[in-house]
Amino acid sequence: MIKKHIAAWRHCGRIPLISQVTIKNSNPLKRLAILASGSGSNAEKIMAHFQHSDIAEITLIASNKPDAYVLERAKKFNVPSFTFSKKEMDTGILLDKLKAEKIDYVILAGFLLKVPVELTRAFPDRMVNIHPALLPKYGGKGMYGHFVHEAVKAAGEKETGITIHLVNENYDEGKIIFQAHTTLNELDTPDSIAAKVHELEHKYFPQVIEGLLE
Ligand code: GRF
Repeated sequence: MIKKHIAAWRHCGRIPLISQVTIKNSNPLKRLAILASGSGSNAEKIMAHFQHSDIAEITLIASNKPDAYVLERAKKFNVPSFTFSKKEMDTGILLDKLKAEKIDYVILAGFLLKVPVELTRAFPDRMVNIHPALLPKYGGKGMYGHFVHEAVKAAGEKETGITIHLVNENYDEGKIIFQAHTTLNELDTPDSIAAKVHELEHKYFPQVIEGLLE
């Protein structure tokens, strides 16, 4: 919160009075939409992070899965939600919704569909994705969720991590804005790798989004 103390002198008879006024950040809150297809643990961390923010608010959770658990998490935070089919996304209905809601930034947090070009172009440098590995390794078509961690395990990697990047027309190829690493050992399984990666995601994703907004 930006606080400015303004000393205003008022003369009341001969005694000067000083009044202090606190001015909140006068910039309007940035409006964020989160697109998610699954559990939404990242979406929840982001909603919690911006719950009382004076920089941004999560104004929409959008999902292509009507039974995705992320929709329950949205209810918990009183964030409106919207569900859509792949066809509706591809024919512009999702974009219309984002425009109608005056969304400034789109956050992909476990969103499994390929975003159409019209949508990426509508949010240049304002659409961000998180990938559960150190791109450019283990990215691209078919590399999502457990497939990523299984591939990391099969390759005998000594480390993995997270990548937060801007979204452009080519899957997982937008500008990388943040990476964090975690070490692995031979006892790690795809499940334990997933847990380590989730821990990094929950810790850093909300902060990195906030940095992007500033
Ligand atoms: C995360 O690992 C993220 O990197 C990937 O999908 C997963 C979503 O997890 N894109 P959750 O639904 O936020 O728990």
